[in-house]
Amino acid sequence: MTALTSTLTDAPAHALTYPLAERSIQRLGYGAMQLAGPGVFGPPKDRAAAVAVLREAVELGVNHIDTSDFYGPHITNQIIKEALHPYRDGLTLVTKVGARRDDKGGWLPAFSRAELRQAVTDNLCNLGLDVLDVVNLRSMLDVHGPAEGSLEEPLTALAELRQEGLVRHIGLSNVTRRQVEEGRRLVPIVCVQNLYNMARRADDDLVDLLAREGIPFVPFFPLGGFTPLQSDTLGEVARQLNATPMQVALAWLLQRSENLLLIPGTSSVAHLRENMKAAQLVLPPEAVVALNGIGQEAGAAH
Ligand SMILES: NC(=O)c1ccc[n+]([C@@H]2O[C@H](COP(=O)([O-])OP(=O)(O)OC[C@H]3O[C@@H](n4cnc5c(N)ncnc54)[C@H](OP(=O)(O)O)[C@@H]3O)[C@@H](O)[C@H]2O)c1
Repeated sequence: MTALTSTLTDAPAHALTYPLAERSIQRLGYGAMQLAGPGVFGPPKDRAAAVAVLREAVELGVNHIDTSDFYGPHITNQIIKEALHPYRDGLTLVTKVGARRDDKGGWLPAFSRAELRQAVTDNLCNLGLDVLDVVNLRSMLDVHGPAEGSLEEPLTALAELRQEGLVRHIGLSNVTRRQVEEGRRLVPIVCVQNLYNMARRADDDLVDLLAREGIPFVPFFPLGGFTPLQSDTLGEVARQLNATPMQVALAWLLQRSENLLLIPGTSSVAHLRENMKAAQLVLPPEAVVALNGIGQEAGAAH
């Protein structure tokens, strides 16, 4: 790779906000899943540290926090409430329904009308809200990714909860393009949250389709999730730009498409501060070309 010259700057190459649910959202948000205990189950080792991460995120300008009552379960939402309630104007909390946990931390589907109502009620109670800003219906995953199948029944049930005033907006998660199209015929869909990062690009077309429609795509595992991204190319680009690999991974997403709203997760204030600086990192075109190669190699390997 030829030498790269860009670095952290005050003049980002991309928009820093994008609309979601009638609000202007900072494209660098925060995902709260990592605040629960190991395996997203039980309490964190250090609850005070989790509270500190959330408060620092909001201080640094985050106005989009992703959560679910099945993280913990209940615990992540309770920590968010402890840290941030009463919530600042403009802070958008996005939650998910469609799963529940067994008593060993396993993930079970929960799509019945009664389970969806219970999930919405639990989120309201544990977050201390009268109405949820955005609720994503989280569909099922199989080994290949989102599993096909109609979402009409659970989406209709969720739309009824919206009619009742318990939910303002509905989104989708872990879905195929066909499920997005079906969902949009049934109810306004304000965002789609799927697995996507520089190495996992199966949703490239969906990102572009939603961009054309003005709908946010929220990539989960933006840093690789439980196996943080690692690649010689990523390390080399970061070194040349005087940035960290995680900052480069987030900057790549910010530059990839303006409708990407990021929710990197961390349980560390130091990592949070590092990640937030990605908003100012400009990747030169040669770096983007090199980083695009990571996704092509990963795609070829599968
Ligand atoms: N819809 C769904 O089915 C679904 C599935 C998974 C996740 N999500 C959502 O997506 C959000 C993001 O996903 P995620 O948190 O699982 O994965 P992620 O953001 O890709 O990565 C988080 C991991 O990266 C580490 N990390 C973060 N910043 C770092 C840094 N600067 N340097 C080194 N390591 C760093 C974290 O460890 P530390 O804690 O040590 O920083 C953690 O292990 C979640 O919080 C959740 O809200 C949704």
